Amino acid sequence: MYNEIDLDKIDLSSEPPREEPARQYYYMAKCRRHVKAESERLGRPLFAAVRTFGCQMNARDSEKLAGILESAGYMETDREEADLVIYNTCTVRDNANQRVYGRLGVLNGLKKKNPHMKIVLCGCMMQEQSVIEKIRKSYRFVDLIFGTHNIFKFAELLFAMLESDRPVIDIWEGTDQIVEDLPIERKYPFKSGINIMFGCNNFCSYCIVPYVRGRERSRAPQDILNEIKKLAGDGVIEIMLLGQNVNSYGKNLENPISFAQLLKEVEKIEGIERIRFMTSHPKDLSDELIQVMKESKKICRHLHLPLQSGSTPILQAMNRRYTKEQYLALAEKIRREIPDMAITTDIIVGFPGETMEDIEETIDVVKKVQYDNAFTFIYSKRTGTPAASMPNQVPEDVVKKGFDKLLKTVQETAKARTALLRGRILPALVEEINAQDDTLVTGRLSNNTIVHFPGEASLIGKIVNVRLKECHGFYYLGERV
Ligand code: 5AD
Ligand code: SF4
Repeated sequence: MYNEIDLDKIDLSSEPPREEPARQYYYMAKCRRHVKAESERLGRPLFAAVRTFGCQMNARDSEKLAGILESAGYMETDREEADLVIYNTCTVRDNANQRVYGRLGVLNGLKKKNPHMKIVLCGCMMQEQSVIEKIRKSYRFVDLIFGTHNIFKFAELLFAMLESDRPVIDIWEGTDQIVEDLPIERKYPFKSGINIMFGCNNFCSYCIVPYVRGRERSRAPQDILNEIKKLAGDGVIEIMLLGQNVNSYGKNLENPISFAQLLKEVEKIEGIERIRFMTSHPKDLSDELIQVMKESKKICRHLHLPLQSGSTPILQAMNRRYTKEQYLALAEKIRREIPDMAITTDIIVGFPGETMEDIEETIDVVKKVQYDNAFTFIYSKRTGTPAASMPNQVPEDVVKKGFDKLLKTVQETAKARTALLRGRILPALVEEINAQDDTLVTGRLSNNTIVHFPGEASLIGKIVNVRLKECHGFYYLGERV
């Protein structure tokens, strides 16, 4: 395990080991020597900033990047006026890409003031060939680029970058490798994400994820359980199991195991009080899973169940593999079996061929399911996906009209659902001091609703009972009882 390895004892005069993760420890030690020399020369520590775009998977990957930077001897900072800045990018919608290009202009300005600064790009966006071409041509000040499949090699690539005056670019098409036991620097001491699988095999026709994250690969259950036990030993009480489609976890393992079975094992781990997971695909959500959730004391009362569209023909064109009726039946079953379960969703508006009638179907599902929250997205054309070459792309004004109407319904239903909790006393995990008012702390209920209440920093990381007094749309003001 990483904790037991003393990087300073690694013999750096020998050849790098071939096997992983030993090879990466070797390069961490090499980076550390380099960083130490540089910081002695400058008479100050070297600072590194990791900036995350996109989803929880990326947030977890950023903790891995931060862990390696820390082992290499960098001090972490939030400020981008640093010696090294790394952007962990997202490409699920085009606006994520545009944000990265915009920020890169700012970084270029910073680098002009500090020519020693190193700029690193990684993550999903880097798996697109057109992006790499654009960066090579127009953003030549970037020092290192790698993708999603070789993130485990970050220490090795970092060292190559530190030793070279030319940009280092290493993008893999795919991998079946999962490297365990690399260092991780967690953002929160009391909660943590855990990857249980990587990639996606679903190929929803609008989605770029299967192309940039590769085929579905599950981690071995024992590796997952060991990691969680270790986290529990470190004081983590809430975990979130991460995968693009957790409901199909374990199917491709040598000894197949279901996601529900994995959850039962996680439930047994002492010290873990709350279990969350993301994301569920409706087509794979089994009765076994509903049963396990129902009986569990630790699985949170929150299920994120992306709908994408409520119109069966659009769902078919999206390759979602369920109909409106099947989705409704599933949501109804969950509401019947576990009435206090919050259900949230993702919806896309403006998929090719979508009409106002299709949107009305989606609105009908929103009204029937009564989502506790819904993320609504405008369809973004992703090059290389089947939907990008579909003929009937929707005009902007139709998209806008549909989007506004849907958003209104979503907000009304979410507000009504949240308001149902008024007056209840429920346990909340305190996460942080309120950003606007430091006499308040911010906690999260099992069902993912946020509650702000008077309290101090010593409560952070604790689960306390809170009376929900005032409902403000999506969040509550409350008091500790
Ligand atoms: N355009 C708009 N939204 C998208 N999503 C995925 N791909 C696209 C796209 N091309 C949304 C889906 C998914 C969420 C993470 O992002 O709703 O569930
Ligand atoms: Fe994309 Fe569909 Fe896979 Fe989700 S399930 S990552 S939307 S292809």
